Amino acid sequence: MSLVYRPARADDLAATDVLVVASINDLTVRHGFGRMAAASPPNFQLFSLQDDPDGLWVAEENGEILGFAWSWVCGDVWFLAQLFVDPARQGQGIGNELLERTMEHARKSGAIHKALITFTFNRVSQGLYMRHGLFPKTPIYFFNATRERVKQTLPEPPLRAIAIDSSAATMNNLAEIDLRAIGASREKHHRYLLSDPATTGVLLYAGDGPVGYGYISSNGHIGPLAVMRTDVLRDAFATMLTLAADGSAETISAFLPGTCDSALSLAIRQGMRITFPMLLMASPGYGDWMQYLPRNPGFM
Ligand SMILES: CC(C)(COP(=O)(O)OP(=O)(O)OC[C@H]1O[C@@H](n2cnc3c(N)ncnc32)[C@H](O)[C@@H]1OP(=O)(O)O)[C@@H](O)C(=O)NCCC(=O)NCCS
Repeated sequence: MSLVYRPARADDLAATDVLVVASINDLTVRHGFGRMAAASPPNFQLFSLQDDPDGLWVAEENGEILGFAWSWVCGDVWFLAQLFVDPARQGQGIGNELLERTMEHARKSGAIHKALITFTFNRVSQGLYMRHGLFPKTPIYFFNATRERVKQTLPEPPLRAIAIDSSAATMNNLAEIDLRAIGASREKHHRYLLSDPATTGVLLYAGDGPVGYGYISSNGHIGPLAVMRTDVLRDAFATMLTLAADGSAETISAFLPGTCDSALSLAIRQGMRITFPMLLMASPGYGDWMQYLPRNPGFM
């Protein structure tokens, strides 16, 4: 049987996760960063598949999955969550074919803006994305540190944190924050995060009004985090660091865009270390991200 490109099915997603983890670790080990990825249940992939199956594609040969592409759309923003090819079959045009299909997803959805997060040290992916009209915007650094280290000298949380619920009022607040921070409402993704027992989300208040939101996972990872204005980003990140420091995870981590000076300074001050350098690539005119810390390269 020859190589075929077909829409992904729910029962492919365990195998695509194995492929993605192997492909990431092959890349990060080759570049001297050690292993970055570990297997995890493909919950968000499954959510996206059920929400909008046009965004998930596999390359298959003789029953074996050789490549996987996955994109999602919110409003007029299209995001490429994953594009991975089996290390033994890279450089043979499979990634490009898969990318064509997810780009078609963007066209069909009427998305105006396109974005993705890739590895700063992967020349192949960056060149391939530039070929498709996506260009480097800003580095995104994965920072982490032990919770004990971050706890030292943390200021009192500057903002008030109130748990996110599924009420219409909360969803309206989240939509407004997202519109200002990233240009699209992500209500469906907030509902997804709310259903995740390992994640806690809070609205962040200065005085009476919400100025942002943030999420923390039980493993101490902060993000996504978004704010209404750039001048509250530092306070929002400081508040989330305090919440994480009060938790029980061994380490605290976050993805910080190079455009977020105040959050970067605070991370460095609290002893956090750059572990992996990533890169935001986007269609022209999109992706300042001065008010947004992504959760990870797939969720955005
Ligand atoms: C990135 C990846 C998905 C691409 O898939 P692939 O099947 O290897 O790529 P293709 O063979 O379809 O296309 C490669 C293209 O990249 C571009 N490219 C490769 N090296 C390049 C370089 N040094 N400079 C600029 N462009 C380059 C070219 O356009 C090339 O096509 P060409 O050889 O026809 O000119 C795959 O290599 C992979 O899984 N890498 C590891 C994981 C990863 O980084 N994934 C992206 C996460 S966002």
